[in-house]
Amino acid sequence: MQINSFEAYQQAYKHSVENPEEFWAGIADNFLWKKKWDKVLSWNFSEPNVKWFEGAKLNITENCLDRHLAEHGDTPAIIWEPNDPEKDPITLTYKILHVQVCRFANVLKKNGVKKGDRICIYMPMVPELAVAVLACARIGAVHSVIFGGFSAQSIADRINDAKCKLVITADGSFRGNKQIQLKEVIDDALIGCPTVEKVIVLTNTRTPVSMIKGRDIWWEDEVKLVDANCPAEEMDAEDMLFILYTSGSTGKPKGVVHTVGGYMVYAGYTFTNVFNYQPDEVFFCTADIGWITGHSYIVYGPLSQGATTLMFEGIPTYPDASRMWQIVEKHKVNILYTAPTAIRSLMSFGTEPIQGHDLSSLRVLGSVGEPINEEAWHWYNEEIGKDNCPIVDTWWQTENGGIMISPIAFVTPTKPSYATLPLPGIQPVLVDEAGNEIEGNGVSGNLCIKFPWPGILRTTYGDHERCKLTYFSTYKDMYFTGDGCMRDQDGYYKITGRVDDVINVSGHRIGTAEVENAINMHSGVVESAVVGFPHDVKGQGIYAFVIFGNSQHDEDLNKRDILQTVTRVIGAIAKPDKILFVSGLPKTRSGKIMRRILRKIAEGETSNLGDTSTLLDPAVVEEIVEGAAKLR
Ligand code: PRX
Repeated sequence: MQINSFEAYQQAYKHSVENPEEFWAGIADNFLWKKKWDKVLSWNFSEPNVKWFEGAKLNITENCLDRHLAEHGDTPAIIWEPNDPEKDPITLTYKILHVQVCRFANVLKKNGVKKGDRICIYMPMVPELAVAVLACARIGAVHSVIFGGFSAQSIADRINDAKCKLVITADGSFRGNKQIQLKEVIDDALIGCPTVEKVIVLTNTRTPVSMIKGRDIWWEDEVKLVDANCPAEEMDAEDMLFILYTSGSTGKPKGVVHTVGGYMVYAGYTFTNVFNYQPDEVFFCTADIGWITGHSYIVYGPLSQGATTLMFEGIPTYPDASRMWQIVEKHKVNILYTAPTAIRSLMSFGTEPIQGHDLSSLRVLGSVGEPINEEAWHWYNEEIGKDNCPIVDTWWQTENGGIMISPIAFVTPTKPSYATLPLPGIQPVLVDEAGNEIEGNGVSGNLCIKFPWPGILRTTYGDHERCKLTYFSTYKDMYFTGDGCMRDQDGYYKITGRVDDVINVSGHRIGTAEVENAINMHSGVVESAVVGFPHDVKGQGIYAFVIFGNSQHDEDLNKRDILQTVTRVIGAIAKPDKILFVSGLPKTRSGKIMRRILRKIAEGETSNLGDTSTLLDPAVVEEIVEGAAKLR
């Protein structure tokens, strides 16, 4: 199923559009099914109702583990590089990983977990995180992995939304020279989570933790009590595999639902093609498994293809800015997949940290999560790829399950800052505000997809209406991505960024409404408005305009209090970079905040604020402009 020439890509693309069912059936044939499907695809985007490989039976872990054992059992499945470079890395071969997954799956069973139960995983980037994820899949439990940077409140919201029965966590995690007390955060979260019956705790940092009798149990003790034989649960292709929470324009994060069969086919197919993975190569995706990139390209994509996936516990700048290049050299990494924000951050240290490190094992470089600016693209290409590695700028989203628009390494001619062309099976369209398709090249519009692919989300957990409203109602019979996009004269796609109220901070999606709600929880705050602004390293930063109740307030202290409030309510990742206290916000006569004006002010583009005459109080704009100039 690997595409090896541009002609082969064009043929595959044509086939996928003209006969999608035949095309995807051909791809799905490369996977292991207990029973093949009765129907490849049935769909409508109006409900929406999308089903792939209906009637088929499988278990994704048999595809990720069992099927590789006979011939590749001793191949490293996971290489783990610890936060501390002095500590030894760990290699889990397919055989060892299989045993660990089966054993831990039995631990889950022993603790009452059944097919369909939801399990919350809040863990550091250690091999046991991958084991926990796969163990859930082994027995048909639905995992909901929560990124380690989220607060107790955010975790509680997610646990309650999914009604999780069990939580898997660790005492703590190492991040650079910091330690994060994960179990403590879970303890706080669980005060408000009545559905959770058990908490399994892995020893990692060996920090003291409070273990509650009858609820909390140690990972290490439990695995001793079970054997390593755990037959894989037979799953329907459309059974739920996982829930992953992501932010949108409104309300609380929603639980994006992916199902077993389609997701597996899509993650595996895109992995092997986009990166041109070759047997025995080492693939290093620097994402955290708490995000979709980690799900699809640390765990399921690579393992379904028998690949060796490198998992890194730490951060690129610890102990210093040469860490990534040390890892590439040490583990002879062949494919590196990272985010523009990491590239820009490392770029700021110059080329000195790269010198002396042998990067000659690198063959393919990938980028994901946000638009990559040309400067970062060239630096990545020249300093890291030595002008010799294709860069695949992969555009996709949590809701997509896998890469959607991207070059295929060694196949698609690349172009700096362009995601280039849709992968086979993906039918992008650009639409204008009225929902009309904009045809031809050299055009811009809102990016939609008009035909389903196997990795498309099936619903948002517990609220199908929300799924319909968010993705399938803006434009009739199309999936709306929320991104703006340009298609150039060659038909190449360039993603220009979100067109909704979502900010992309260091490749992480944050809803402005969510941050506003958090800020407004501070007792002194009357009202706030949050927008994104261009940030040299993070891509976008968070800019908060805040009306404070008491005019005598100590600005510095109140800013710190607000940051603390946001950290408590959402997590440190949502902390505003800038807070400007204002006496009013620009509102229309109907009371709507004119974010367009705030965005321009945050961007520093105050010379052309557009028409402000319809504002309730135009004078407030001048005050904000003056305040913002001082803050810069
Ligand atoms: O705006 C796009 C941006 O990230 C959003 C999806 O975020 P998330 O669901 O968290 O998934 C991130 C990793 C898959 C998109 O709507 N985005 C992602 N990749 C790119 C990108 N923007 C430009 N270029 C990309 N390669």
